[in-house]
Amino acid sequence: MAKQRVLTGITTTGTPHLGNYVGAIRPSIAASRDHSMDSFFFLADYHALIKCQDPQLVRQSSKEIAATWLALGLDTDNALFYRQSDIPEITELTWILCCSAAKGLMNRAHAYKAAVQVNEEAGEDPDFGLTMGLFSYPVLMAADILMFNAHQIPVGRDQVQHVEMARDIAQRFNHNFADVFTLPQAAVDDNVAVLQGTDGRKMSKSYNNTIPLFQTEKQLRKSINKIKTNLLEPGEPKDPDGSTVFQLWSAFASRVEIERMRGEFENGIAWGEVKKQLFELVNGELADARERYNELMDDPGHVESVLLRGAERAREYSVPLIGKVRDAVGISRMG
Ligand code: TRP
Repeated sequence: MAKQRVLTGITTTGTPHLGNYVGAIRPSIAASRDHSMDSFFFLADYHALIKCQDPQLVRQSSKEIAATWLALGLDTDNALFYRQSDIPEITELTWILCCSAAKGLMNRAHAYKAAVQVNEEAGEDPDFGLTMGLFSYPVLMAADILMFNAHQIPVGRDQVQHVEMARDIAQRFNHNFADVFTLPQAAVDDNVAVLQGTDGRKMSKSYNNTIPLFQTEKQLRKSINKIKTNLLEPGEPKDPDGSTVFQLWSAFASRVEIERMRGEFENGIAWGEVKKQLFELVNGELADARERYNELMDDPGHVESVLLRGAERAREYSVPLIGKVRDAVGISRMG
């Protein structure tokens, strides 16, 4: 049997934080080393344009995300690592898919519906301020996935609907034209923690409660010290299960260390002491990678060359595939 193809994209808006690391980056790095499947990881910079109109931010974020993944040891000999915008076949496929994707399907996309609802509640025109980019977002994402005939798409819950739409779009195309596309499936890993941020809500850029992955050691210590706790004094037993600090601890510690800390909570360990140990643990896991990250950020030419090599390899798949798609829809040379 052919190897399973696993593909996922990272939208290049923002700086990677601990939540991204635990939820997506760390498992992906592990997968990149697994020779029993073919992994595809890419910087979704065309997706970034939907949310972000600041060129400097898009550029900076692409660089930070690429450097982060490489610094953490992404195996780019085994896995493919590329930038969406280096694969022109993806945008070409997006248009072709636009012409067979149902508009009614796009009307049901959560992101679009949520934006419409905000407008309606504000008494505005339903489409006020909305772009075609936002509306067509699921088609671009379908092109990302279908271009490489990926089977498994590891995503967060919020993206499952988009993968299902990609599947729908593929089915419709296969039925109308030719059997070109593999039907993809979302893979949501419930064992991966969704980290809380410093204020106890889900760690997210939009809540401004993130702990950046590669801030300096000093800043990391500061961020950890800022995590919200309760007012229980040293010596008073604390509930580990409601605690953001304990949750973070659990995302980095071994099973034995998690149990030990649970005991410490029951014995009334001081918050200052837990945070000190948490800093040591997180910093221990990240320190070497942070150094490599800083080196890579100072050597963008190297990062660029890795991405270009990834694009070259990716185009070995995308060029023949777009040929099949063009043929199927009747866009081809005469004679
Ligand atoms: N839209 C995804 C997100 O915001 C990123 C993404 C773009 C993606 N293209 C993809 C994920 C293809 C999986 C497959 O998280």
